[in-house]
Amino acid sequence: MDLQTAEHRAAELRNLLNQYGYEYYVLDKPSVPDSEYDRYMQELLELEAKFPQLNRADSPTQRVGGNILDLFEKVEHTAPMLSLGNAFNEQDLKDFDRRVRQAVGEEVTYVCELKIDGLAVSLRYEEGLFIQGATRGDGTIGEDITANLKTIKSIPLRLRENVSIEVRGEAYMPKSSFHALNKVKEERGEDLAANPRNAAAGSLRQLDPKIAASRNLDVFLYGIGAASKIEATSHSEGLNFLDRLGFKTNKERQKCGTIDEVIEYVNGWVDRRPHLPYEIDGIVIKVDSYKQQSELGTTAKSPRWAIAFKFPAEEVVTTLLGIELSVGRTGVITPTAILKPVKVAGSTVQRASLHNEDLIREKDIKLGDQVVIKKAGDIIPEVVNVLADQRTGEEVDFVMPSHCPECENELVRFEGEVALRCINPKCPAQIREGLIHFVSRTAMNIDGMGEKVISQLFAENLISDVADIYKLTGDQLLALERMGEKSVSNLLKAIEASKSNSLEKLLFGLGIRHVGAKAAKTLAQSFDTMDNLASATKEELLAINEIGEKMADAIVTFFEQEEAVELLEELSSAGVNMEYKGAKPVSAEESDSVFAGKTVVLTGKLEQLSRNEAKEKIEALGGNVSGSVSKKTHLVIAGVEAGSKLKKAQELGIEVWDEEKLLVEFNK
Ligand code: IVH
Repeated sequence: MDLQTAEHRAAELRNLLNQYGYEYYVLDKPSVPDSEYDRYMQELLELEAKFPQLNRADSPTQRVGGNILDLFEKVEHTAPMLSLGNAFNEQDLKDFDRRVRQAVGEEVTYVCELKIDGLAVSLRYEEGLFIQGATRGDGTIGEDITANLKTIKSIPLRLRENVSIEVRGEAYMPKSSFHALNKVKEERGEDLAANPRNAAAGSLRQLDPKIAASRNLDVFLYGIGAASKIEATSHSEGLNFLDRLGFKTNKERQKCGTIDEVIEYVNGWVDRRPHLPYEIDGIVIKVDSYKQQSELGTTAKSPRWAIAFKFPAEEVVTTLLGIELSVGRTGVITPTAILKPVKVAGSTVQRASLHNEDLIREKDIKLGDQVVIKKAGDIIPEVVNVLADQRTGEEVDFVMPSHCPECENELVRFEGEVALRCINPKCPAQIREGLIHFVSRTAMNIDGMGEKVISQLFAENLISDVADIYKLTGDQLLALERMGEKSVSNLLKAIEASKSNSLEKLLFGLGIRHVGAKAAKTLAQSFDTMDNLASATKEELLAINEIGEKMADAIVTFFEQEEAVELLEELSSAGVNMEYKGAKPVSAEESDSVFAGKTVVLTGKLEQLSRNEAKEKIEALGGNVSGSVSKKTHLVIAGVEAGSKLKKAQELGIEVWDEEKLLVEFNK
C-alpha cells in the first residue's frame, strides 16, 4: 500500500471509529457489534505502525499514551472554577429563589441537574481538537491530567464542529467500575477504595495513564468555561450545544418554572437515587438565562445563580471499638471513634469524629457501645448517639488522659473552652502537624510531601521547622522509605516551585492563630509584603474590614516573637517569596473604572506590558478577562498582529481599543 492510499484509509478508519465510539460511549446506542469496532481498530493500529507519519492526536488509537509522566504540570484556569453554595432543606431552596427573583426583578426559569459525585475537570479544545484537561485544584490553578482524561472514552478527542471551547464537568467512577476495582483490590490483599469519588480522584492522579485507562471512568459535562462561539443564550441551550458538539451531558436535567417544581424534582430523586448506575450527592439548581446569570454574578467562592441541594445524611449502627487521641497543630486534643467498618452514604466508614471530651460525656459514650453514625456526602462522619438499651454490661467508660499522649506534658483546659490542650510549644506532635499544614494544598502546596513524608523526615530529625524544608538534599530524601530517584526529583521541583508562591500561601502556612486561608488573602492584599505586615500595628490591622480583635492580637503577638522573625529571615534567604502577587480586591460595584463589571478580551501582542500584567490590572479595576470573543464581550484590546479575535469583535460590533488607549485608562 502506498502512503496516499494509507492516508486515505486511515482517515476513513478514524472517522468510523470516532463515530462508533461516540454512539457507544456518549449516546449509549451502539450501531455495530464490538467485533467490528475491534477489527477497524486493529486495522488502524497496523496502518499507523507501518506509516508513523499518519498518526494524529485525535486518532482513537491515542487514548492510552505510552509514556509514564514525571509529574503533573500546573495549569492556570482561564476563569476560576468556582464551587456551589449549599441548600439542605426546602426553606433553603425557597430563600435562594427569593434572593434570585429579587435581584433580577423578573420571572426566572431554573434548570435542575443531578450533582454527580466525582471530581471537577476542565477540558480545552482548540479548533475542535482536545488539547488539555485539568483538575480543579484550588480553583485558580489545577493540574494537567490530559493523558489520563484521554483514556475516558466518552471524552471526544475531536469535536463534531471546529470550535475552540473550554468545557467543565464531572469525571466519575460508575458504581460497576468501583465494585470491579474493589474486587481486584480484595483479591490482591490491598486496601479497598472507600467510595467511587475517591477512587475516581485516585485514578486520575496516577502518573501512568494505563492505570487510569484500566479504571473505566466516565464523565458528564455541565458547563461552558469560555468559547469561540456559543450558540446559546441560556444554560439549557448551552447543554444542547454541548450535545451537538459530541459531549456527554446528563439527560436527567429538567427545566422548572417555579421553586415548587424544583422541590418536586429534588424530592423525586431522594428515593430514585440508589437505582442510578453512578453516585450523586445532591441536585444542582441553576438559573437558566445567561443574561440573568450575569446580572446575578458571583461571590468570591460561588455563583449567585446556582445552588447545590445536598441530600440528607444517612445513619447506620455499628460498634465503637476504641477511642484514639490526636494532638493537633494548635495543641488541641481530639478524640476519634474507631469503629467496626460499616457502609454509609456510599462509603465505608471506620473512624468518626467525637469532637471533644464533653461530647463523649454528654452522649454517655462507652467503649464497646453500639453507636449511631451519621454521614452526609463528603462531610466527616459523626457519632450521633448511643443505643444504651443494647448494652451487655461489658462496655467500659472512657477516661480522658491528664497528660499529652505525645509529649506527656500536663494537659490544660482554658476557661470557656471545651478543648483540652497541650501547651508545650515543643510538643513534637504540634510541630509535626504544623509542618503538614505548611505543605498542604491551601498553604504552600508542595506536592509529594504529604503526611507520611513529613512524619518520616521529622522522625529522622531532618526537619524541625518549616525553613528546614528548603534545606533538604536529594540524598536525604532518597534515604527515606519508598522514595525513588523520580519521586525525589519531583519533590525537589515542588519545593523549589513553592518558593514563588504568592504571600497569602506562606502566611496561611505559618499557622498564625486565627488566620485562616481567607484572612491570609485579605492580609496579603492589604499589606503587600511580609515586612509591611510584620510592622503593622494593632490599629492598622483593625482598620481592615475582616480583621477582628482576636486576629489582630494574634498577628501582633506572632511577629513579636524572636523565633518568628528568625524563621522568616531564614525562609527569605532560602528564596521564599514574601510578596503578594495576585490582583487587588475591588468589587465591580465599588469600582468606578470603565472596566467595572465588563468582560474584556486581550488579543495580539502587547508591547508595553505583558498580557498577565494587563489582565491583573483590568481585574483589579473590576473587569473580567476572558479568553474568547462572544456576544457577551464588552471590550477587546487588540495588540500587534491581532487576528481572528479582532475580526470576530468587528463582526459583532464590539468596542476595540489599542494598547495606547488601554494605558491611558490605566493611568487615569
Ligand atoms: S455546576 C460554578 N453542575 O459539584 C459552579 N457542578 O461545588 C459550577 N458538580 O466540584 C458547578 N455535578 O464539579 C455543577 N451538574 C453539576 C454538577 C456539579 C457535580 C460538582 C462540581 C463541583 C461541585 C460544586
